[in-house]
Amino acid sequence: MIIYTEVSELDKFIINGGKRLRGSVNISGAKNAAVAIIPAVILADDVCVIENVPQINDVTIDLQILRHIGADVRLLDKSTIRIDPKHIKDTVVPYELARHMRASYYFLGTLLSKFNHAKVSMPGGCDLGDRPIDQHLKCFKALGAEYTIEHGIVEISADKLIGTQIYFDKVTVGATINAMLASVKADGLTILENAAKEPHIVDLANFLNSIGANIIGAGTDVIKIRGVKRFKGTHYTIIPDQIEAGTYMIAAAATKGDVTVNGIIPKHLEPITSKLRKVGAIIEERDESVRVIGSDSYERTNLKTMPHPGFPTDMQPQFAALLTLAKGTSILTEGIFDNRFRYVDELRRMGADISVDGKVAVIEGIERLTGAPVKVADLRAGAALIIAGLCADGITEIEEIQHIERGYENMDKKLRELGADIVKRKFPDAVDSIAKIV
Ligand code: EPZ
Repeated sequence: MIIYTEVSELDKFIINGGKRLRGSVNISGAKNAAVAIIPAVILADDVCVIENVPQINDVTIDLQILRHIGADVRLLDKSTIRIDPKHIKDTVVPYELARHMRASYYFLGTLLSKFNHAKVSMPGGCDLGDRPIDQHLKCFKALGAEYTIEHGIVEISADKLIGTQIYFDKVTVGATINAMLASVKADGLTILENAAKEPHIVDLANFLNSIGANIIGAGTDVIKIRGVKRFKGTHYTIIPDQIEAGTYMIAAAATKGDVTVNGIIPKHLEPITSKLRKVGAIIEERDESVRVIGSDSYERTNLKTMPHPGFPTDMQPQFAALLTLAKGTSILTEGIFDNRFRYVDELRRMGADISVDGKVAVIEGIERLTGAPVKVADLRAGAALIIAGLCADGITEIEEIQHIERGYENMDKKLRELGADIVKRKFPDAVDSIAKIV
């Protein structure tokens, strides 16, 4: 049964700022792990049950794609999904589904690996500047596949996939994941060098090994994958979302609140925790939670985003929002993407003093932000605007929140439970329906 959830392009968040966040929040499953593991279920030869799946629109699209190509998909509860891949017959992912997100390109790796063929449109997702897929295509070709790109569609096929050595020209999460997916059934050994080391890379490797793959070294910059021909089903739980957790940590610090973030893996949060401590937040770490106690003022700092275990680029906009209220001048360098400052103009509308030159933003701390109507450019930019709205004097109206709902589960509800004055105003007229699988 499919229930249509209306995601209107006109929905807004309305925030009345100035409330200190207090209480505790539970973190959902990791978006960037889920959008890799769900397509990877195609490789299994039997039913997989996946737990701790975040209720976000990127996952909904993934499940629609699986259903479209012939998988049997059922929600066992709000965050547990049963997927039977045995009757998948189609290897073409339609544009109208793939266009919604970047991670649709993981269907290239899994379908090629399972069926020696895949046809997927070029990916969509956040506009962060130039986002080529040359390293993905380099991996597929190195494994013995041929590809064409025509009319915005990538078609890829191979008679046989043969293990090989691949050195990434730059550290790339997506290409590391696609190379793992494409090589798990290849003949012989594949060695990935200069591989990405993010927690969701390790989570995918653990999932693949749970269905019978032979992968070692995930989480380091050398990953070895020995091909296996038959895979079983599994019961797997996705790791918690380090970026969702970091977002609530910064919201707690920025509003000078006192929030316990539950259901996390502290090691995954180390770069965020250390930066928050450096500017003056108090962080108490426990086995599966962190408590963030805000300070009355914050010190300036310099920050450069790097591949894991460096400071994550997905936390850059949120941290910038905090630094707009720090004492002094902070310098923030975006080390991963060409243009991840599309939120800056919107923060300026709230009074922030930020100047951007290429990949560097110079932030002059000010006393207070004021609420204003603002527009979301991409997922994490939206999170930054919410944090700014929570701190600002007065009302902030946030448009284009469909970007936020791609990657944060029930964010307005979780914030209200922490004492924020935030509501979602729905405009059901102009609806871009996203189907929910039940
Ligand atoms: C993943 O994107 C994440 N998305 C991003 O999260 C995250 O910001 C990024 O990794 C870095 O951690 C998903 O996991 C769905 P990359 P991805 O390949 O895989 C260049 C969020 O907010 N590059 O690691 O696209 C690329 O242009 C999203 O949750 C090539 O040059 O990122 C970028 O400059 C936003 N050629 C750099 O590498 C390629 O073939 C890193 O990109 C691939 C990438």
